[in-house]
Amino acid sequence: MMTATRGRIDVRGVRLSFARPGIDPLPVLDGLDLSVAGGEIVTLIGPNGCGKSTLLRVIAGLIPADSGSVRLDDALIAGPDPRIGLVFQEPRLLPWRTVAANVGYPMELGGVPAPERAERVASALDRVGLRDAAHQLPGQLSGGMRQRAALARALVLEPDVLLLDEPFSALDAITRDRFNVELLKLWGRLRTTIVVVTHSIPEAIFLGDRVVVLSRRPGRVVADVTVPLAGPRTLEDLDAAAVTSAARAIRAHLDPEVEAA
Ligand SMILES: Nc1ncnc2c1ncn2[C@@H]1O[C@H](COP(=O)(O)OP(=O)(O)O)[C@@H](O)[C@H]1O
Ligand SMILES: [Mg+2]
Repeated sequence: MMTATRGRIDVRGVRLSFARPGIDPLPVLDGLDLSVAGGEIVTLIGPNGCGKSTLLRVIAGLIPADSGSVRLDDALIAGPDPRIGLVFQEPRLLPWRTVAANVGYPMELGGVPAPERAERVASALDRVGLRDAAHQLPGQLSGGMRQRAALARALVLEPDVLLLDEPFSALDAITRDRFNVELLKLWGRLRTTIVVVTHSIPEAIFLGDRVVVLSRRPGRVVADVTVPLAGPRTLEDLDAAAVTSAARAIRAHLDPEVEAA
């Protein structure tokens, strides 16, 4: 069971460099601070290569920071954690396994008995609208369906936090709009904390309670813009004057190259 405050993330002073053979390490995150309230959706935007994907991996406990800390509800994250679901930029499905078998994989690793697994897979596939594709192989699916399958695989452990790395960036604009609307509906039902990386200012505003803007590498937070939209959103909300001014505030802090991407 979720409560409104569960899923609070606190990133404090996270510093990280990647070692490079023969040259100095590459500094990627530079004392990064970020707090996300339980049940909040925060979008992350920043120039290519500034460390967004790295930050999600650090939050998910997949890469240790050189210094600083990540806490989930006050507990230090020190390794992969079932309370945090991560959807990578590419869906990363196992091509020889059906959609259902891919979605069930984390539970298989966790030793969940087969009958319970089947039930939870079915419910996760329902949530993302993939019930009819359960027995297909990833290669038989469209890019959008593959992303949904990856989302279902993240949802199946009922995480308190979902980290989405440019989840729909490979899709055409119309499909992407539709998926973003669906993502908000899903969030309305689950109320998990969500951190989404995006390249698009309108998408960042449409999805986010807040838009956090990162600097050029090494990434740190340069702006934290609260989105002035209340209640269930529609794509038409993006035309509101208040949204235009939020977009202007974000653009002012964003390195110009980001919009070209
Ligand atoms: N495992 C790794 N080893 C070495 N360098 C990496 C690794 N992962 C990412 N990088 C480098 O770190 C920087 C930040 O990468 P990334 O977090 O993927 O940026 P973003 O998602 O913001 O585009 C890039 O310069 C990238 O090449
Ligand atoms: Mg990335």
